[in-house]
Amino acid sequence: MLAAKFSQRSPWPLIICLAFTQLPANALAASTLGVTIAEHGINDVPACALCHGEHGEGDRAAGYPRLAGMNAGYLLNQLDHYADGSRSSQVMQVYSRALTRIQRRAIAEYYAAKPGLGSQLHTGRQANNAIAALLNKGDWSRNIPACFSCHGKMGTGSKLIPAIADQPVHYFIVQMNHWRTGTRPVGEGDPMATIAKNLTPTEIAGIARYLANESPRK
Ligand code: HEC
Ligand code: HEC
Repeated sequence: MLAAKFSQRSPWPLIICLAFTQLPANALAASTLGVTIAEHGINDVPACALCHGEHGEGDRAAGYPRLAGMNAGYLLNQLDHYADGSRSSQVMQVYSRALTRIQRRAIAEYYAAKPGLGSQLHTGRQANNAIAALLNKGDWSRNIPACFSCHGKMGTGSKLIPAIADQPVHYFIVQMNHWRTGTRPVGEGDPMATIAKNLTPTEIAGIARYLANESPRK
């Protein structure tokens, strides 16, 4: 009796199990490649997590940028730009060239799926009215639009435009200097080279510090 009941009921859990394990198999395969690259590295490229943090949060002290929660298309573009040499960085150029396009896409999607800054960002900023005005209002007399109008409230980024808050101060300044000297490419409709050239070095350093001070990790 017991045996009969068992054999009648047992097929159902098995079928349900199969349905669940088979459906997400493709999605799983894609993300497995991302996890492998992030945690173990591939093609002689070290684990990205070594520099960019266990969760893609970056390393402020060492100057490695945050990647978590950034748009996948943006991240993939950056890896392509390093690979073709149009965006300068000795270390990232070598790594990006060693990755295939499929691997670049997988790792871009891996970091895009991680939680971004969102509401974690604290708002204990240093008072600096001139810098706050540039971020919130811009300075139209010098053709500088408000940073937050594109980069989201508090600089936490939008679906398409990267976050600028909570990045290492050094990283931020280096990027602005790349745009000033033409060693970071400018996409169609991308205003960053013009903006970087219209800001003074003092303002760039001021904005970098201001945005970094908003972070919970002071
Ligand atoms: C040895 C440290 C190191 C490792 C390992 C490393 N990176 Fe980087 N990464 C950097 C540095 C330094 C920069 C800043 C370069 C610059 O100034 O443009 C950077 C920048 C980036 C950026 C640009 C971020 C932005 O906001 O535009 C991306 C994307 C990136 N890395 C992805 C990766 C991926 C993916 C891996 C693993 C395959 C990886 N990195 C491994 C050091 C590292
Ligand atoms: C009209 C929209 C717009 C405005 C206004 C704007 N940005 Fe940007 N910004 C962008 C876009 C688009 C990118 C991505 C560029 C790329 O793909 O390389 C970007 C990228 C950046 C980056 C690089 C982020 C990274 O992770 O490497 C920094 C830093 C930055 N902006 C700072 C600023 C500052 C500071 C201001 C204000 C003075 C500002 N932006 C105003 C559109 C804007």
